[in-house]
Amino acid sequence: SKTIKKICCIGAGYVGGPTMSVVAKQCPHIEITIVDVNAARIAAWNDENLDNLPVYEPGLQEIVAEARNRNLFFSTDIEKAIDEADMIFISVNTPTKNYGKGKGMAADLKYIELCARQIAAVAKNDKIVVEKSTLPVRTAAALKSILDNTGNGVNFHILSNPEFLAEGTAIQDLINPDRVLIGGENDEAIAALVDIYAHWVSRDKILTTNLWSSELSKLTANAFLAQRVSSINSISALCEKTGANVDEVSKAIGMDSRIGSKFLKASVGFGGSCFQKDILNLVYIARSYGLTEVAEYWDQVILMNDYQKQRFADNIIQTLYNTVSGKKIAFLGWAFKKDTNDTRESAAIYVADYLLSEQAEITVYDPKVSAERIYADLDYLNTRSSEENRALVKVVNTAYEACNDAHAIAVLTEWDEFKRYDWAKIKEHMKKPAFVFDGRKLLNRKELEDLDFKYYAIGE
Ligand code: NAD
Ligand code: UDX
Repeated sequence: SKTIKKICCIGAGYVGGPTMSVVAKQCPHIEITIVDVNAARIAAWNDENLDNLPVYEPGLQEIVAEARNRNLFFSTDIEKAIDEADMIFISVNTPTKNYGKGKGMAADLKYIELCARQIAAVAKNDKIVVEKSTLPVRTAAALKSILDNTGNGVNFHILSNPEFLAEGTAIQDLINPDRVLIGGENDEAIAALVDIYAHWVSRDKILTTNLWSSELSKLTANAFLAQRVSSINSISALCEKTGANVDEVSKAIGMDSRIGSKFLKASVGFGGSCFQKDILNLVYIARSYGLTEVAEYWDQVILMNDYQKQRFADNIIQTLYNTVSGKKIAFLGWAFKKDTNDTRESAAIYVADYLLSEQAEITVYDPKVSAERIYADLDYLNTRSSEENRALVKVVNTAYEACNDAHAIAVLTEWDEFKRYDWAKIKEHMKKPAFVFDGRKLLNRKELEDLDFKYYAIGE
């Protein structure tokens, strides 16, 4: 098969950055250039101070330090990188459409199409174009049509190679994936990509399929994963009413090898840029083929997740004697899960929004999320003015500061450091009774109750 010497990756985000860093580490003979229209992001990837990389992932800094400017480059010169590459990964964002037909459901493919048109315009020799972004099934047909009809008569082979990494464990997931999925029609193009992964992934874990199976498998995997979280969260509500403990139920069902133990942790609700977006997209696709029952089946996963976030906020309000107006509530964590600085669709945003509408005052501490990010997340909802958000929400640098004088603490992200705090000291400086609402079932009930906290956890 064709040996790939140069790769271009369009999109230097949470997927493009870590994924290509790992390819560069494992394949020092391949030169990789990651390009992006966002010049600030590229500058951050090139920053000498590795703490300023735009993505935080355990292990990422070490790999960037090793490969950057050796065989890994970050650039805004998109045309040059496309021109020189044998293989081009498209790893741009595919957010939920917020306008027009399919608003709030369909994936917005405008960035993908722009990439295709740019590749077609620039390419002077044959290219393998790899879909790394998560795309609706049959997008490769649209890409092919654009490439073939606007190009300079060169050959394009399209592959689908969805990414299954989870944020917070991206490097470990990339180095040791459960499987690599490659969909395509042209055997030589497929073999070229298989050869790259085979540098560090055993061949029996590299699965090749047709294009449509590959595209659809990505949406399906995310739908199944999210469904497990919504399923256990639905049971957590029932646990709270009946005296059952959701962790005990998870363990009991998870030991059934047909069910399996992973991804059964009840929580305040799943977040992240993928689950909701991809299920909405799946629902939209099913509807567009007239498959109403299929659409409604998957839609429930999202409705249950919304219910869980609302339920968590309602429980706080109810427990605090039915009013949080003027009360200070400390948020521990804002990221959608631990070990990432990503906040997209984080449950914390929605819980905060409900409580702010009840006139609560919120103080946030997150070890990796900036104040600007938190305000931007709240402003984006458009529930109230950005001045009001800034008046009601304070972002601080330590958990102790956040909890000072608070009526209640809400744990929104499962950061490890929260478990190691001096909870006696925290309680001393809180209003009494001191309430803790643990949306992650992270803290130790016995320890907190011995300190006289009023401790509430999801599903107990
Ligand atoms: P992101 O928003 O972090 O990064 C996308 C980048 O693409 C941005 O920096 C943006 O500026 C750039 N971009 C957009 N249009 C461009 C263009 N025409 N030319 C050059 N650059 C352009 O998004 P992400 O989280 O990395 O996700 C990318 C894709 O991967 C999405 O389809 C997503 O569904 C999928 N995915 C994400 C994850 C995840 O954990 N975040 C996991 C698997 C798959
Ligand atoms: C997900 C998929 O796991 C990954 O394969 C895909 O490539 C991108 O989408 P990500 O969103 O980064 O990854 O993180 P994930 O670990 O899946 O967590 C998603 C959300 O579900 C988080 O908010 C997490 O806290 C929540 N979750 C996860 C639970 O509430 N309970 C669980 O048992 C697992």
